[in-house]
Amino acid sequence: PPLDKLVGLPDFDAAARRHLPTQNYTYYRNGAGGEWSYRNNLEVYNRYRLRPRTMVDITNIESTLPTTILGHNFSAPFFISPAARGGYGNTDGEKGLVEGAAAGDILYIPAQLASLTIEEIATFKKDDQVTFQQVYLDSNDTATKEVFARAEKSGSKAIVFTVDSAADGNRHRAARYGVGSADSAYTLITWDFYDHLRTLTDLPIVLKGIQTVEDAQKAVEHQVPAIYLSNHGGRQIDGARSPLEVAIEIHEQAPEIFSQLEVYADGGVRYGADVVKLLALGVKAVGLGRPFMYANVYGTEGVKRAIDILKHEIAIDAANAGIADLKKIDPSIVDWTPNWAL
Ligand code: FNR
Repeated sequence: PPLDKLVGLPDFDAAARRHLPTQNYTYYRNGAGGEWSYRNNLEVYNRYRLRPRTMVDITNIESTLPTTILGHNFSAPFFISPAARGGYGNTDGEKGLVEGAAAGDILYIPAQLASLTIEEIATFKKDDQVTFQQVYLDSNDTATKEVFARAEKSGSKAIVFTVDSAADGNRHRAARYGVGSADSAYTLITWDFYDHLRTLTDLPIVLKGIQTVEDAQKAVEHQVPAIYLSNHGGRQIDGARSPLEVAIEIHEQAPEIFSQLEVYADGGVRYGADVVKLLALGVKAVGLGRPFMYANVYGTEGVKRAIDILKHEIAIDAANAGIADLKKIDPSIVDWTPNWAL
């Protein structure tokens, strides 16, 4: 369907499903095991209902969308999560993701296992465009230093180090179609190793895949500048909680963490209200993986349209919830008692 017929992010999923060869679509859509975590990531937002306030002056809500991520300015509190193999959705690979992010003025985090190399991706960047580079690392310092150097040289402003993939996920759906996992790698990571990594680069190193309050506290102890709550879109270990549930745990047990470092989160975000709920807990920016991979089927224009749709939804959902300023959002906008009837 033409782009102007797509009115919400789930429409990009449906369009990609129709357009792409089954194997390619399945690689994106796939989750680990029985895909409970994949489904829970999507459904969990409905268990926490909004408590809209009325008669609030919301006329400036749109002007409160812009935010900073590690000190860099962006037009909205959401970003494109790192996802491998952009080439499965578009023969131009990640081109549409880089250019779409620039056009929409949001952060893009290219994956180390992208279809294009770090340097090729950089050629599509606008001069002043800020990107962060996702990496999987092993204990080989020479290889690590080389990846860091390439990222720095290509203008990346931070490293996003994925720590949720100690082993590959068992992705039945993809395996049935003979599609490999290939968005994770074995990795040898400990907290001591993180301290060591910092001596190898001047770039800030964000930890992606934090899933407990204990590990969030560890990150504070190790002076990590930002943590990124994620269960890898339900692709690694089936049964892992959604990042919204992890954010609630942090909010209940150690809310100070949200001001001690920056907290990002991704998984199952498809609607403006999903973003609002994560921001309400103190999450600074929210990532989306699959929706942008599907949007990239339409290239730059598709990615730009997905960004515009989500910006608009966040603004109208915040307005209807009586939020005057997204920067001053607080947890009281949501009823945090889960509705298990759903
Ligand atoms: C991913 N993800 C991912 N994460 C990462 O750190 N490195 C990677 O190479 C990949 N590769 C990858 C490929 C595909 C096809 C998907 C869908 C996802 C996980 C990604 O960064 C993010 O955590 C999830 O996609 C978020 O969930 P949603 O938004 O897809 O529901």
